[in-house]
Amino acid sequence: MKGIILAGGKATRLRPLTLVTSKQLLPVYDKPMIYYPINTLIQGGIKDILIIIAPDYSGQFLNLLGDGSEFGVHFNYAIQKEPKGLADAFIVGKNFIDGDDVTMILGDNIFDPSFGSEIKSFDKGAMVFAKKVEDPERFGVVEFDKDMKAISIEEKPENPKSNFAVVGLYCYDSRVTDFASKLAPSPRGEIEITDLNNIYLKNGEMKVNVFDSLWEDAGTFDSLLHVSNQMAEFTKLTESKKLV
Ligand code: G1P
Repeated sequence: MKGIILAGGKATRLRPLTLVTSKQLLPVYDKPMIYYPINTLIQGGIKDILIIIAPDYSGQFLNLLGDGSEFGVHFNYAIQKEPKGLADAFIVGKNFIDGDDVTMILGDNIFDPSFGSEIKSFDKGAMVFAKKVEDPERFGVVEFDKDMKAISIEEKPENPKSNFAVVGLYCYDSRVTDFASKLAPSPRGEIEITDLNNIYLKNGEMKVNVFDSLWEDAGTFDSLLHVSNQMAEFTKLTESKKLV
């Protein structure tokens, strides 16, 4: 299993912070944001990681992260000139994936520090994770039948069919690059991860795991502040346990 961290984009919603550096390098409590998705992939046993970055501030990523040896893994980098949608990561990463299974995590998605071990349960097809939220219209939303079997996923629907958001951690088999290459851009001009997920879902090859632990998309001022506070509490809790 290989890993991709998608850390591109311009993050205009976080200006003026993102006039200074990339969103994924902003602090979340005591670490740059990207340390959290790196940790999630490492927890999943992944050692070969492609970091997809925008041209702006790309040198800062290299200075901070280097070749990955300090983390005990190997980092590769690719530049994505324009944000073309999340599924574009599998086209940018085609040579890196090279016929293996791959897990992608969004560079601004922060999970409970032990969540990454869930990746190890990937078997075949595709696997995504869904969490109950209060504002599903901001996300990809899963519709379940009465037996909690996933029947559709809609991207940012006006009238969500459930409160379950698909979060930014996705596992796929090696066919993902071919599937992504065949997708047409959506009305907003992006190759949508939700369209990719629906291919696997319609083939009966998609596993949707519902979970309830910490998850935050840190792409807004409020979510950035909230997740920083949660991580501060978490760090203090684990440190106080270590002292006992
Ligand atoms: C993206 C995906 C969406 C997913 C979300 C998770 O949205 O398109 O399906 O629920 O990430 O963070 P974006 O954050 O790019 O608006």
